[in-house]
Amino acid sequence: MTVRRVTKHGERILKTPCPPVDYEALKPELPALLKDMWATMAAARGVGLAAPQIGLNLRLAVIDVRPEGKSERLVLINPEIVRADGEQNEEEGCLSIPGIYAPLRRAARVRVRALGADGRPWEAEGSGLLARAFQHEIDHLDGKLFVDRLPFELKLKVLDAIKDAKPRWT
Ligand code: NI
Repeated sequence: MTVRRVTKHGERILKTPCPPVDYEALKPELPALLKDMWATMAAARGVGLAAPQIGLNLRLAVIDVRPEGKSERLVLINPEIVRADGEQNEEEGCLSIPGIYAPLRRAARVRVRALGADGRPWEAEGSGLLARAFQHEIDHLDGKLFVDRLPFELKLKVLDAIKDAKPRWT
């Protein structure tokens, strides 16, 4: 198990849409890869991590928003949002943009379909932080970061803050 370096805003991989995972082809490496992803997410104190954040162009993400403080690990392979409704406007951050947070409008409830670690399809509905995590991680797989979705004025401010913060990132 290895804590991997998390890629940062400005690195090309974070702007590159990920092609679907061929589950059978990835299967032999998947257990070790997931261990690394969980370890990397935990070390950075995140609630989600997408493969491009450890430099891999794979449609794969992990989420654990710890509902009621209890771990609830979700593995999302080739995830899709099948339904989204309502609206929430909360602060959002990203392990690839450390220290930067901004309010962002997202759907309040989303239903996601994906393959799990065992290759079987699952579907789940999330609201609040889980709904936000679903949308945030799937955005990563489409080559998008939360700052890309901010309204123009706020985006300019946040990009300035990123420029200032960048020299401190590793
Ligand atoms: Ni992120």
